[in-house]
Amino acid sequence: FSAFLTDSFGRKHNYLRISVTEKCNLRCQYCMPQEGVKLTPRPQLLTSEELLKLARLFVQEGVTKIRITGGEPLIRPDILHLIGEIRKLEGLKTIAVTTNGMNLSRLLPDLKDVGVDLLNISLDTLVPAKFEFITRRKSFHKAMEGIEKALAVGYNPVKVNCVIMRGLNEDELIDFVSLTERKPLHVRFIEYMPFNGNRWNFKMMVSYQEMLDSIKQKWPNLEPVIGEEMDTAKMFQVPGFSGKFGFITSMSDNFCGSCNRLRITADGNLKVCLFGNTEVSLRDILRSGASEEELLHIIGAAVGRKKKQHADEDGSGLLRFASLKGHLRLNISP
Ligand code: GTP
Ligand code: 5AD
Ligand code: SF4
Repeated sequence: FSAFLTDSFGRKHNYLRISVTEKCNLRCQYCMPQEGVKLTPRPQLLTSEELLKLARLFVQEGVTKIRITGGEPLIRPDILHLIGEIRKLEGLKTIAVTTNGMNLSRLLPDLKDVGVDLLNISLDTLVPAKFEFITRRKSFHKAMEGIEKALAVGYNPVKVNCVIMRGLNEDELIDFVSLTERKPLHVRFIEYMPFNGNRWNFKMMVSYQEMLDSIKQKWPNLEPVIGEEMDTAKMFQVPGFSGKFGFITSMSDNFCGSCNRLRITADGNLKVCLFGNTEVSLRDILRSGASEEELLHIIGAAVGRKKKQHADEDGSGLLRFASLKGHLRLNISP
């Protein structure tokens, strides 16, 4: 495995997340303000050719999984073509997309045909009025349609990402788990994280332990599901249900120790951590006419600076939140 993609703690980064646009057709409260995010002027965004060049380089160095993210990746006009080209890279095993589902009924089955292996769809509530409050758009039915269509064209499982916020949707845990009874969904409850300007507050975060306890009141005999070491989610199953559910515990129990991810932002920065401050503009280096070798050295140096974890190293569980305050000013997007 490439030394350039191995950090000083021995973590091998074989999973690359590429943001293909900053734009989104929803305005989720926890992610962006009503007016949207400030968009980078077009000339400063990576072109499809630049993006492909980088993807090719990372795959050549050992990346086996690429996830296409945004903003909302499926509003990019050339998304099918782009994914089709990435799919052709030799050595790439998996190509995944994280989407809010709005455009799925239009883009399926084409996405499947160009080679998307995995679909993660965000859905935070099963109540249309709440959906409108959270996303500031009246599109609940589109999200549900997207999930149904993904199942219908054969994605199995379909992962559903659900950010739980106190006072908003923590009363829907049971309803979401019930969805897994007959459908091969993997519902993943995500601890609410502090992002740039999302007015995160500690009280709104519902911890994994609390969510699990409340689900166990209804189903005391949950079966833990053993996943892969690199999985971000701790998964469970209600005996007899066809789907599963789980928790992404970025806050209460971070999974930095086994982190295998790197990310490229739409404007071409390499981020070695979601919460990280180590950013280097691969776009500028590409455009300066640097050789592949030079590019790799710069990538390697950034990966080498990756920290052990996103908050303090005191390992004292919830106390770590205090230290996350320092990250609030950073420009973070999931
Ligand atoms: P799989 O590949 O299916 O495991 O998906 P994923 O969990 O890697 O990706 P997805 O885009 O579905 O993200 C789900 C949640 O995980 C989101 O809330 C992300 O913000 C969070 N997440 C993704 N990558 C990272 C990361 O590197 N660090 C942390 N702390 N959280 C992350
Ligand atoms: N906390 C937790 N998860 C978040 N996401 C976006 N913002 C946040 C946040 N503040 C999730 C989205 C999507 C995934 C890519 O990240 O819901 O499912
Ligand atoms: Fe758009 Fe996803 Fe952010 Fe919601 S969380 S505004 S769907 S990018």
